[in-house]
Amino acid sequence: MFQAKLFCMPKKLLVVTGGGDCPGLNAVIRAIVKRASQESNWEVYGSIEAYNGLMFSPQEIVRLDESAVSGIHVQGGTIIGTTNKGDPFHWPVRQEDGSWLTEDRSDLLLQRIAESGFDGIISIGGDGSQRISLQLQQMGVNVIGVPKTIDNDLSATDMTFGFQTAVQIATEAMDKLVTTAASHNRVMIMEVMGRDAGWIALHTAIAAGAEICLIPEIPYDLDAVLRRIEARYARSRRAFVNIVIAEGAKALDGRTVAQTATETGYRNLRLGGVCQMLMEDLKAAGCQADIRTTVLGHVQRGGIPTAFDRVLASAFGVRAFEMALEGSWGRMVALRNNAVVDVTLEEAVATYNHVNPGSQLIRTARGLGICMGD
Ligand code: F6P
Repeated sequence: MFQAKLFCMPKKLLVVTGGGDCPGLNAVIRAIVKRASQESNWEVYGSIEAYNGLMFSPQEIVRLDESAVSGIHVQGGTIIGTTNKGDPFHWPVRQEDGSWLTEDRSDLLLQRIAESGFDGIISIGGDGSQRISLQLQQMGVNVIGVPKTIDNDLSATDMTFGFQTAVQIATEAMDKLVTTAASHNRVMIMEVMGRDAGWIALHTAIAAGAEICLIPEIPYDLDAVLRRIEARYARSRRAFVNIVIAEGAKALDGRTVAQTATETGYRNLRLGGVCQMLMEDLKAAGCQADIRTTVLGHVQRGGIPTAFDRVLASAFGVRAFEMALEGSWGRMVALRNNAVVDVTLEEAVATYNHVNPGSQLIRTARGLGICMGD
């Protein structure tokens, strides 16, 4: 009798989305739920704002069934919310004097996971989230990772979902800037996201036909940038120049733009504004052309995912659930050589995925005549 009851007990899977949001998150959630619904004894839940939903009192956990995920694959963002201030190993705690310190609250998280009866967790997130996944796995929690980030900076997977959408948005923005740049014979500098990797900038520059592309992996020489601008205007007075600059780009002298965030619990440096630095440096170096700047910002993360990202996200979601079914915990789904595979969580966070300056993609850019700032 007791055994029969145990046999019928559903397995409970918790899904969390952590770090910055990213187009395709909802498609992963939907795929997990749809695949789980084909099994008779699995229930899927979502923790609101990554692990915060589990940690908060009262808890914020939602049941994710087929009706909850119906049609969400076309929506940007994440229906279960996300945060980059929810690291249980560095949990922000307000002190008596009003200041904030961080504490390791992973013990509370483990207790909550056990009390709620979750058999495993699927954590959809970038490198920060997968580092948390690895730590939890090492403490005995069953975790499966799904890589997400518009930055494409996870080396264990050939591509993350969200990246293609960000590139598409940035390319369309640059296409728009071309018409206004051409009308006014201006230099347009467009800053894109990507943290310490130049993937979004490089793909956008190639797709949109930029004149100059500046990425963190190739520190730029201001003189080289200025020479390219002047060469354009020397050929024709009615020229224009479009520059794509990655938010993490660095000048040859090492200068970049990054601020320590003041938001409680936010542990990343905040990038943004390097296009302003470039404009001021160009002006100071004698650039005669009119220059305008555009910081594309969070627009790159918003709106509907491209079809490619929906497909990749769905493939990751289905595979992640099947890994839970097989008991392949401690691993992250990945795309390698056009196949969905899985890697250990250690491998998932081992190396940062920088653009290789010697790669064929950089040669493509140079072959198209794009100045890489060197
Ligand atoms: O990692 C994704 C990303 O959009 C980066 O490209 C960017 O630097 C950062 O997140 C911005 O973070 P936030 O949304 O916290 O400002």
